[in-house]
Amino acid sequence: MPTKVVIGAQWGDEGKGKTIDILAGKADVVVRTSGGNNAGHTIEADGVTYKLHLMPSGILNPKTLNIIGNGVVVDPKVLLEEIDGMESKGISTRNLKIDARAHVIMPYHIVLDGLSEAARGKGDIGTTKKGIGPCYMDKAERSGIRMCDLVNPEKFPVCVRENLKLKNKMIELVYGGTPLDPESVIAEYTAYAKRLAPYVTATTPILYNSICEGKEVLFEGAQGILLDLDLGTYPYVTSSHPISGGVCVGSGIGPTMIDECIGILKGYTTRVGNGPFPTELDDEVGEAIRQKGHEFGTTTGRPRRTGWFDAVIAKYAVRTSSLTSVVLNKIDPLGGLDKIKLCVAYEKDGVITTDFPPTLEELARCKPIYEEMDSWSEDISNVKEFDKLPEAAQKYVLRVEELCGCRVSSIGVGPGRDQNIDR
Ligand code: GDP
Ligand code: IMO
Ligand code: MG
Repeated sequence: MPTKVVIGAQWGDEGKGKTIDILAGKADVVVRTSGGNNAGHTIEADGVTYKLHLMPSGILNPKTLNIIGNGVVVDPKVLLEEIDGMESKGISTRNLKIDARAHVIMPYHIVLDGLSEAARGKGDIGTTKKGIGPCYMDKAERSGIRMCDLVNPEKFPVCVRENLKLKNKMIELVYGGTPLDPESVIAEYTAYAKRLAPYVTATTPILYNSICEGKEVLFEGAQGILLDLDLGTYPYVTSSHPISGGVCVGSGIGPTMIDECIGILKGYTTRVGNGPFPTELDDEVGEAIRQKGHEFGTTTGRPRRTGWFDAVIAKYAVRTSSLTSVVLNKIDPLGGLDKIKLCVAYEKDGVITTDFPPTLEELARCKPIYEEMDSWSEDISNVKEFDKLPEAAQKYVLRVEELCGCRVSSIGVGPGRDQNIDR
């Protein structure tokens, strides 16, 4: 059985949660490997909408083992809320495991995320303010608190007191914020630790053995390739590695254990937060797509910026994540538009290029070159076969496939589990 990686191939929110949920029906293990509760993955199943932030999207399948890998940053309070929310809906979290090496988002990370964004003023990144960046900063700086420390009653209070000595100085003296009381943080988080301890374990041997035994393993990406710390639109990125390469570091397996890399795209482009967006539509067409596609953030509720499909980005995703196929979700919101535009290349300083540039300065000089295609007026949300799609929709999918240079294996025509057309 193959090992599959599913990643976001744009700026996030491509419908990864839906695709994972569909694939999880046959998967033995689903693993989250990066990011934290900045992610918001939506699943619509049997008329119920689930918005998951930390919980792997395989949780609705009672037979699937769900792992939060070492590369994830865990906010214990948010995770417990999700666990309680699932259990209250009759969904068991018995099959959830959290890696002992995963880092913990502490309250001072959340405070510092907000304060540093405010200090950036107009140059703010537009983070989710969930403490993601500051937590990964501590991980890289080697002062972070890991899940194994959180559930160690002797070590945890020492770590908190030690960390807060410096963090409180930063909060108060650098940013003019209100310092945190170490003893109340210890009391609150010790209570979370007691509840989370049964889930915490070394997940890397479980994962390795599952793959060796031929079990089907799905790696659930978070965010999207252009939010990658190295390969994204830096500094308007997140602090982790959403590209397929991030999966190995974030779960403790090597690249030769991965068989397939599936990139999730939507039929157009969206972005939440600040930073460049070459095909952005700041007009009534962009607004129509936002309304038809319900493009409002799952995590922060912010309206998502919308724009035309950008094949330069899709090609960049195929190359930097070695994609073996792509899923093209959300073509249904493109129905009913006068015309659909596709960005096929950029013009930069009079030269035509299909390479995504490495700097914001170069990206600012890139003008999208568009191709215009027909839209369709039929409702496609119940179409089950590719041949039954209106001709214009079929042509659109085939053109996207040609431009990306990668097989479109599935097409999304609605948010539900049964609203994907396999090819
Ligand atoms: P993720 O972060 O990649 O998991 O994506 P989000 O859940 O943040 O955003 C995708 C949104 O689009 C969710 O509300 C999904 O329910 C919805 N969705 C997914 N696929 C489709 C599709 O093919 N058509 C429509 N109309 N909605 C979809
Ligand atoms: P999913 O998994 C879309 C964006 C934020 C901001 C930038 C940095 O649902 O696709 P952070 O809080 O991570 O420091 O913010 O990254 N961002 C996302 N945008 N989807 C996501 O996740 C995102 N996670 C982070 O909006 O621009
Ligand atoms: Mg999302």
